[in-house]
Amino acid sequence: METQALAEETLVQGAVRVAVAGATGYAGRELIAILARHPQARIVRLMSSGRGKPQSGNGSTTPESLPIECSHPVLRGALGARASRPHEVSSTLCHPLDLEDLTPSDVDVVFLATPHETSHEVVPALVERGLRVIDLSGAFRLKDPGGYPRWYGFEHDAPGALAEAVYGLPELNAAAIRKAQLVSNPGCYATSIILALAPLVEADWLDPGAGIISDAKSGASGAGRAPTEKLHFAEVNENCRAYGLFTHRHIPEMLQALGLEERSFTFTPHLLPITRGILSTVYARLRERRATEEIVALFRDFYSASPLVRVYDSGLPEIQAVAHTNYADLGFALDLGTRRLVVVSALDNLGKGAAGQAVENMNLMYGFPQETALG
Ligand SMILES: NC(=O)c1ccc[n+]([C@@H]2O[C@H](COP(=O)([O-])OP(=O)(O)OC[C@H]3O[C@@H](n4cnc5c(N)ncnc54)[C@H](OP(=O)(O)O)[C@@H]3O)[C@@H](O)[C@H]2O)c1
Repeated sequence: METQALAEETLVQGAVRVAVAGATGYAGRELIAILARHPQARIVRLMSSGRGKPQSGNGSTTPESLPIECSHPVLRGALGARASRPHEVSSTLCHPLDLEDLTPSDVDVVFLATPHETSHEVVPALVERGLRVIDLSGAFRLKDPGGYPRWYGFEHDAPGALAEAVYGLPELNAAAIRKAQLVSNPGCYATSIILALAPLVEADWLDPGAGIISDAKSGASGAGRAPTEKLHFAEVNENCRAYGLFTHRHIPEMLQALGLEERSFTFTPHLLPITRGILSTVYARLRERRATEEIVALFRDFYSASPLVRVYDSGLPEIQAVAHTNYADLGFALDLGTRRLVVVSALDNLGKGAAGQAVENMNLMYGFPQETALG
């Protein structure tokens, strides 16, 4: 069997055997690109919905299993370096997601770059059979199952897996991630804003009465690949619009990770006419007067063991500095007299905001240097 043959070879070589579900999506594409250059990972299974895509012209659909290059031409040849072994060529085929194909004899870790509802459905079975899982959806991010109807629109019926899931932000939870069986990868906006606030919250430097405002802008790939009217080129191009005010799904995970109250935290996302990248501008007030150097020192100390967070001494991050990377960049502006602090946070929503962070979590789970394949 194809997967079995791959498994045997990877075991011999000691590589982590990786399956990617949601391979035809944007986050899946990034995962494949990173994992293909990862020296200690071996892709053994690519999966998607299996619904196929209409062929141009005649409206018919493609066969169920397709070379991944059909979905992502940019990956043409990316897995080809290993094509000298015939069975590995076939691993570039993307199959319909079938839980029967995901067993510990063939696979070590499953990345789920699937919709929340799909992850919610399949994670318990994968965990039950002993696989390690890194889920990029929001289905296992909230500790309180009661939050799911309000924020995600479905009742959560896997409280056991939810309780076990570790929130996969390496800068906050590295020790727990190392031991985790199920890692719930943070949202892209959430990553940028939690990183901007965590050192200040932990040090208790913020004035709680002043509240916090997080004004964030994202490129259109943050919404995934499925076309909608709002993501139509003519709606996005030369435009910028706010959306999801007070209702965006990343709000509860930010409150949870930072221990903030909803009434003191305002988050407004915006859609930018670019493909990749998030810029979050976070406004807060300090309890006491601090010099900019103290802020920088606080962040540098907090992120001293975080190879993918870059803290600026001066100047402010921008999207061009992080697009197509796995870094999160942080910079500061302080008004000494009024104690107003602005933290600017930038990352690539598909990099540190999704696939890069997911592989960072895998690196921690398997004891590899955190930045392997990501720097
Ligand atoms: N885009 C981002 O910046 C970003 C950032 C952080 C987290 N995330 C999260 O990551 C996940 C994937 O996001 P994305 O942007 O990559 O979405 P996407 O581009 O829309 O891709 C979704 C993927 O899921 C597959 N899929 C859909 N229904 C399925 C089913 N029932 N069974 C198996 N596979 C199914 C799709 O396969 P088909 O092509 O066959 O339909 C596709 O491969 C989402 O949960 C999203 O919230 C995304």
